[in-house]
Amino acid sequence: MRTSTLTRMIQKPMIDLSAPLLAWFDENKREFPWRGAMDAYAVWVSETMLQQTRTGAVLAYFPRFMEAYPTVFDLANSKEDELLRVWQGLGYYSRARNMRRAAKQIVEEYGGIFPREISELKKLRGVGEYTAGAVASIAFGAHVPAVDGNALRVFARLTNCADDIADPKTKAGLSAAITAGLPARAGDFNQAVMDLGATVCLPGKAPRCEECPLSRLCEANRAGTASSLPYKSPKKPRRPETLTVFVLQKDNSFLVQKRNENGLLASLYQLPNTTGHLNAEEMASHLQALGISPRSEILCYERKHIFTHIEWHMRVYACRVTDSAPADYILYNGTQSLPTAFRICLPGMTEHITK
Ligand code: ADE
Repeated sequence: MRTSTLTRMIQKPMIDLSAPLLAWFDENKREFPWRGAMDAYAVWVSETMLQQTRTGAVLAYFPRFMEAYPTVFDLANSKEDELLRVWQGLGYYSRARNMRRAAKQIVEEYGGIFPREISELKKLRGVGEYTAGAVASIAFGAHVPAVDGNALRVFARLTNCADDIADPKTKAGLSAAITAGLPARAGDFNQAVMDLGATVCLPGKAPRCEECPLSRLCEANRAGTASSLPYKSPKKPRRPETLTVFVLQKDNSFLVQKRNENGLLASLYQLPNTTGHLNAEEMASHLQALGISPRSEILCYERKHIFTHIEWHMRVYACRVTDSAPADYILYNGTQSLPTAFRICLPGMTEHITK
């Protein structure tokens, strides 16, 4: 275990780390619609969107969200279905549901004023250590770190720490090192680390050490180990699931149904589907059992969608159908929230948005 540099940084922070980093940030910071004079609500919205999602995808969603829900009161009073529709395509829908619940907490328990204390922020639904640190430091100037995957990578390299960053002990050690080195401009420092991680201290074999303002201070750069750090123990492989999905077209639209209130993609809409890959004969009997009669040639194609722990391998059958359909099938009218996993099954659609 290589803790020597880490321990040294915690006990005697690299005092000259923040100066070159902040100077670099002042010159090179990325322009985003959520940066600048933002209140805590806007910072929280952006930080929640940015969890598990690329900045490129959030660029389009953030202004739309702020227009739909300009204040925490608007979000607290929102209808869940409408909110999920605004979120549609961003993935990880529990983030949106939690935000709505947290907005209600802020209105009911804090009179609509965002709490400033980390301990209070962490009581909000869906707000963990990272988001609390980001909101407190960026919106309120609190002297706290915001430790995400980028920050862990940057500091594992700076300290040449080869311990498993999936291990909470390693994360705690790196967080302590970051905290020890925090300057007065903690919000800018945290965002500088994010930008450095996203544009210079890139993951895998691609770090641009020659462009890095911290290269002279970086132990991994000195040791030639940057491209092999950080070490992360292998994740459990995703569970593959097979599904047959139906695009049943009617009146220039298609049939959808609401999903269960619990589990994956809870309460969103879906294309009718069943587990397993049905062959042509099984598909015909499945539709017949539902009382659905195809009225056109049936197209068959495959689609794949990746969630965090599961991947869906979908066989899609698409055809025009007659009027009869089970009572819980309704025509998609553009207002129901249809997740990306199903949108990519529509003929001609293949796009993925989330990471
Ligand atoms: N990723 C997470 N938070 C971010 C922020 N505030 N700016 C840029 N990238 C981020």
